Amino acid sequence: MASLTIRKLDEALKSQLRLRAARNGRSMEEEIRLILAAAGEETEPPPAALPQPAAAAMTARPQARVLLVISGGIAAYKSLDLIRRLKERGIAVRVVMTQAAQEFVTPLVAGAIAGGHVHTDLFDERTEFDIGHIRLARETDLVVVAPATADLMAKMANGLATDLASTVLLATDRPVLIAPAMNPRMWAHKATQRNLARLVADGTTVVGPNAGEMAERGEAGVGRMAEPLEIAAAVETLLRARGARPLAGKRVLITSGPTHEPIDPVRYIANRSSGKQGHAIARAAVDAGAAVTLVSGPVGLPDPAGANVVHVESARDMLAAVEAALPADVAIFAAAVADWRVEGASAQKLKKTAGGPPALSLAENPDILATIARRKDGRPPLVIGFAAETEQVVAHAKAKLARKRCDWILANDVSAESGVMGGDQNTIHLVSADGVETWPTQTKDEVARMLIERAAAALAAMPGGQP
Ligand SMILES: Cc1cc2nc3c(=O)[nH]c(=O)nc-3n(C[C@H](O)[C@H](O)[C@H](O)COP(=O)(O)O)c2cc1C
Repeated sequence: MASLTIRKLDEALKSQLRLRAARNGRSMEEEIRLILAAAGEETEPPPAALPQPAAAAMTARPQARVLLVISGGIAAYKSLDLIRRLKERGIAVRVVMTQAAQEFVTPLVAGAIAGGHVHTDLFDERTEFDIGHIRLARETDLVVVAPATADLMAKMANGLATDLASTVLLATDRPVLIAPAMNPRMWAHKATQRNLARLVADGTTVVGPNAGEMAERGEAGVGRMAEPLEIAAAVETLLRARGARPLAGKRVLITSGPTHEPIDPVRYIANRSSGKQGHAIARAAVDAGAAVTLVSGPVGLPDPAGANVVHVESARDMLAAVEAALPADVAIFAAAVADWRVEGASAQKLKKTAGGPPALSLAENPDILATIARRKDGRPPLVIGFAAETEQVVAHAKAKLARKRCDWILANDVSAESGVMGGDQNTIHLVSADGVETWPTQTKDEVARMLIERAAAALAAMPGGQP
């Protein structure tokens, strides 16, 4: 008996340790070493660290991404070293170059170091159809402009979008870091200082410029671009701030996709849910440091990296998987669960007969959201449901909140004209006991990030919440 308990304890501790190591982006050995060090135990020094990219690839944590904009100053040659420094740190780098920048370094060299195509032209079919300027602006954690010319700073400060670089900078909602570099007189000019003040007021972070010899003969003063190592350090600081993991140590359970209710072994009743919103929430929860279980109906999407994914077909399977995944700190039910199943689904394929089509009799499926929200024992502290409505969206969501006894309902209009089912955008009304809040129309990834931020804040506000 005692040995059985110890074995179970050993397994449980190992599994906790594995989870903790994955969450912190460390190996098991490194995690053990840190725990022992914290307890005052001496251990062998760790083996030589893996090169950063390999270390990053081994962890479940997503790789940090930087979009580097190179504009046309002499310091552009130093950007090549900056790319190398960022990649050494395991950061994925995409590069945009202005036309003037290409007078100083070639896209071929920058692309060879970055390991990808360099984007130079707003009206380039390849860029537009492959990635597109909006995706370039958004699919990154940070935008870095190095060097930032006086000209590009002026465009940014005034909201101009006349080429790919300035358009991306206007379209981005990510933090921006600039490393100005220019002749000291250009830097000291009132116009540049005015632009700088405006950029700082807009939330742009600035590194440098430094004082010293300029590339031009006989020129000295403030205007040299910060060294690549200084810029890389500023990038790391900003990425760390982004990487604050507000759900570290929390368990998040998410359902996603449709369910399939069998009629016979080859036919089923389904719905149009794509799973895009639920899967986006799972990715955002992983990014926020949570231990995520995603219970997914049949979808054509890849499993989100870092989440424990349980694949199910029917509503009853989904409920069983959800109950098995408890306890959780937050449960988010984004799946479009079929309300009904076919009563007595046939074990054999139904045949076409002269007697006409078979009559299908429907039975009610379990209500997963209400079942979990009404649990007396082990109810997650925050239970969130989705309401897909085609009319009277908010009124129906309010009624659903009361009926199901969950904490929040995220209501969305899924009428055919809204394009939400299967689409990439969503307009959410957050209905809670505090009232109704309508979020702007945004991508499903943005909705996911906003929801996870809200959930983390709500958990932190609960007694015994976040540290
Ligand atoms: C040799 C040379 C060096 C230059 N160096 C700089 C510089 O360091 N900083 C700057 O702001 N402009 C510099 N310029 C001027 C810019 O290249 C010019 O303003 C250009 O329009 C900037 O375009 P962009 O901001 O789209 O890259 C330089 C121009 C030349 C010809």
